[in-house]
Amino acid sequence: MAAKELINVIRPIVAISTYITFTALAMYEHPECHEELMHGDNNYFEMFVQEVRRYYPFTPFLGARVHKDFVWNQYEFKKGVLVLLDVYGMNHDSQIWSDPDEFRPGRFKEQKDRTFSFIPQGGGDPGKGHRCPGEGITIEMMKASINFLVNKVDFEVPEQDLTYSLSRIPTLPESGFIMKNIRKKL
Ligand code: HEM
Repeated sequence: MAAKELINVIRPIVAISTYITFTALAMYEHPECHEELMHGDNNYFEMFVQEVRRYYPFTPFLGARVHKDFVWNQYEFKKGVLVLLDVYGMNHDSQIWSDPDEFRPGRFKEQKDRTFSFIPQGGGDPGKGHRCPGEGITIEMMKASINFLVNKVDFEVPEQDLTYSLSRIPTLPESGFIMKNIRKKL
């Protein structure tokens, strides 16, 4: 039990650090957003964080094993079968998102019920189903990291390989995100 609880502390920290790496990459790849973040309010921070969680390949899929036979939308689920929920696919599905391969935080301006359509940390109601109860904390930590990177420090991004593989799980930019000449903002 102690080991499991220790893993429960380490796991989210590692997971959020991956999101933060993609947040830094998004700011670098989209200087127009970086500019807006410098002058933006909490709403823009939130939209930017949501778009990072939608656009970048953090969780490719979630797996579960069927407990008992059931039919859903004419699909038969047999007991014992491993089912994979295509998280990355849903986050890039053109039936759900317009221009899904464009990075556009503004798409989150529209208030919509996304309980089952936006599922970077699982879908549904966290109180009743399998959605991560740490989602709110994750979002707040990402916003705090953006504030640090945008308003508290200046840094340079040296030449490096920022491509990432879609077949590695979990994936990260090849070089990580190397920063140099980091200075505290006066
Ligand atoms: C990048 C960050 C994170 C991702 C992608 C993530 C993803 C997930 C997913 C997909 C599940 C549902 C698993 C399932 O039942 O099928 C889950 C469960 C859970 N997460 Fe997270 N999580 C993240 C961060 C956090 C944080 C920061 C916390 C705590 C502060 C946390 C605490 C939990 C707990 C306690 C559960 C189990 C809930 C239950 O079984 O009732 N997670 N997470």
